Amino acid sequence: MTKKTALHIISSARGNGSYSRALSSAIINKLISSQEIDTVVERDLTKETPPFIKEDLVGAFYTNPGSVEQQQLLKYADTVVSDVSNADIIVIGTPMYNLGMSAVLKAWIDQLVRYGVTYGYDGDGVRSGLLNGKKIYLAIASGGRLADWPNGHEFIASHIEAVIRAYVGLAEIHTFRVEGTVMPGFEPDYQKILAHL
Ligand SMILES: Cc1cc2nc3c(=O)[nH]c(=O)nc-3n(C[C@H](O)[C@H](O)[C@H](O)COP(=O)(O)O)c2cc1C
Repeated sequence: MTKKTALHIISSARGNGSYSRALSSAIINKLISSQEIDTVVERDLTKETPPFIKEDLVGAFYTNPGSVEQQQLLKYADTVVSDVSNADIIVIGTPMYNLGMSAVLKAWIDQLVRYGVTYGYDGDGVRSGLLNGKKIYLAIASGGRLADWPNGHEFIASHIEAVIRAYVGLAEIHTFRVEGTVMPGFEPDYQKILAHL
């Protein structure tokens, strides 16, 4: 079997106490055990925090080729693009904060997506992603359970999937959840959650 590289994105600051990190790590370990991947590049976004988008960075995003200063501003974004380009599989862990993904993960996505780099338009104005063929696993931890919310209160997987499909490329995306983490007596069963991986 051809060996592949996985990019492991961690976005909870709770270190070893983080359930999303435990779930994304369990996914990585399972992929290693099944020999689907042999190389893992790990990025802890709470340690190397992505910059927020500011006016000068917007200018750099849309100038090609940019000045030396603009190229400097794009350093983090360039690393994110090369991490994603080099990965066959991307495993993304995120806590649910206020029904959404973690702010550092959103900031990382904002560094990744770039016109002319991750997506473009053809002569008819049809947009398509430029980094196709990735397999993406989402590992989402939430204090409550989706089933306890009214229909439609799913904003993390739906958001990430929509951004990837619109601005990154065709991808096979699978979502796994560890839910109810703040409930009394909570005990995660990662093997059960990942039974179909
Ligand atoms: C600032 C903050 C906001 C949160 N918002 C929600 C929420 O909207 N819904 C929910 O179910 N849990 C919420 N939680 C609980 C977390 O999702 C839960 O603790 C989860 O396990 C965090 O992921 P982690 O264990 O990977 O850090 C919130 C926790 C924090 C600290």
